[in-house]
Amino acid sequence: MTTTTTTTNTSDEPQKPASDEVIYKSWDLLVYEIWVLGIVSTWAWGCSTTKYLLPQFRANVGKNHLDIGSGTGYYLRKGGIPASTRLTLLDLERPALDLGLQRCGRPDARGLKADILQPLPVVEKFDSVSMYYLLHCIPASVADKCAIFKHIKHNMTPNGVIHGANVLGKGVRNDGRFAAYVRRGVLKAGIFHNLNDNAYDFEHALRTNFEEVETRVVGSVFMFCASRPKLHERDLLEV
Ligand SMILES: C[S@@+](CC[C@H](N)C(=O)[O-])C[C@H]1O[C@@H](n2cnc3c(N)ncnc32)[C@H](O)[C@@H]1O
Repeated sequence: MTTTTTTTNTSDEPQKPASDEVIYKSWDLLVYEIWVLGIVSTWAWGCSTTKYLLPQFRANVGKNHLDIGSGTGYYLRKGGIPASTRLTLLDLERPALDLGLQRCGRPDARGLKADILQPLPVVEKFDSVSMYYLLHCIPASVADKCAIFKHIKHNMTPNGVIHGANVLGKGVRNDGRFAAYVRRGVLKAGIFHNLNDNAYDFEHALRTNFEEVETRVVGSVFMFCASRPKLHERDLLEV
């Protein structure tokens, strides 16, 4: 497996060629795709990827799309993204970014290695932004996760849309036996950081930053779709 990419490295690190470590981590992510998006999403979290998440993704891809936390690139391959759409992938981890670029089916896709908790390292404005199964993986407070919506809106066009989904840790239905088993494991392993993640705070953050907001909770998963960023005078001065 090679990792030839068009990555734009926004850190000061030089571009690295494929390494054994990259390939090893890539296989980890392929297992993730079958286990997490297939089995766990449906049977533990009660939210089928193909029934709920993929249709939301498909319905909300604009001409200039940014996918945050691309992982294996599943949504980018399956999401029916038109060939004319300019596609950018952003991920904190080089192996995930390289794998996403390799598997997104778009040799012209651009990669950004960056931390989404920080303002984007580019001034570009996107028509659509996706972030699926990202927030529950970030080791940060709910407030810091919510702050992502405050800064990402500056990289969105006036009619831009942001959409995604994440597993909640608070204020949701009780886990069944399989879900409880999976949840214990991913929390213990440091894969999930979502004990305090709740629909109220995420929805409030979305409503604060976007004119139109639609949310729903399917099983234990918070799904959201928000458009038309609110750019108050105060916010504009902060840019
Ligand atoms: C669980 S995977 C989700 C992959 C994909 N969106 C999906 O649903 O199949 C989460 C991804 O987010 C990336 N990630 C985690 N924290 C991040 C951060 N602070 N900024 C950007 N990406 C991050 C991880 O490297 C990983 O690729």
